[in-house]
Amino acid sequence: MITAPWRSPLARALHLNRSLVYARYFQLATIDSHGYPANRTVVFRGFLGETNQIKIITDLRSQKASQIRDHPQGEICWYFPKSREQFRFRGSLTLVTADHIFGQAAYPDEKSALQAARKRLWQDISVPARSQFLWDNPGELLRREINDRQIEQQDINKKTNEGSIDLPDFTTPIEVPDALNPTDNFCLLLLDPFHVDHLELRTNPQSRHIYTKNKISDEISNEISDEISDESLDKNPAENSHKTDRIKEEDNWHTASVNP
Ligand SMILES: Cc1cc2nc3c(=O)[nH]c(=O)nc-3n(C[C@H](O)[C@H](O)[C@H](O)COP(=O)(O)O)c2cc1C
Repeated sequence: MITAPWRSPLARALHLNRSLVYARYFQLATIDSHGYPANRTVVFRGFLGETNQIKIITDLRSQKASQIRDHPQGEICWYFPKSREQFRFRGSLTLVTADHIFGQAAYPDEKSALQAARKRLWQDISVPARSQFLWDNPGELLRREINDRQIEQQDINKKTNEGSIDLPDFTTPIEVPDALNPTDNFCLLLLDPFHVDHLELRTNPQSRHIYTKNKISDEISNEISDEISDESLDKNPAENSHKTDRIKEEDNWHTASVNP
């Protein structure tokens, strides 16, 4: 995998904004079941190995998880306040859950690598970050709220002589997350960009670059990789090196400077 040309301006922006903790937050938009955009803030967790795929962590029970299973497409919008620049990354999403990989088709060896990456990320995050994955279901009514409603109902029942009901125990047990193995709710989410829009406000005139990934590059790379792994070709290193060059040539990005 060749490092994409937008990695260098992004690395620069991260460096210039390194003192701002919130410069590592960005907005991720997905598509909901009605076709509407659904947008939220998430934390940048780096890149997957040597690839250009952006890592995020999320909860399997969140709405974005089910949205991504139905529509594995998304866009990140990331503003860097100090250097006054914005990056927008459009790409395909891959959700790595405890037992499934949703989104881009993964090869069998890639699947285990993605599971290993999910586990590593779990081990890297802080204990408070891990604990969030043991919290009650996101988006559901608070236990306290349910409790209050049930007490209200009990009072009404008493007044109307309908008797009392047994209230469940609402004390939340304190669970300590395992430091090694991720809980089932913990997901690794990847965005693999194919279109990147970089806008810089600090220059006069402002500058804007569009990076577009060659659409057929992955397909061709896969075909050529299959050919190279063919046993008969292993005997011909010269031909293999020619094919490897073709992968490099095809796995490229087109860069255009456009009006802001
Ligand atoms: C500063 C900040 C950072 C956040 N980081 C994450 C994150 O890394 N992953 C995540 O799933 N949610 C994160 N959230 C919460 C999301 O914005 C969102 O509320 C939650 O994921 C539920 O969204 P959904 O129902 O659309 O899936 C963060 C929120 C804030 C304000």
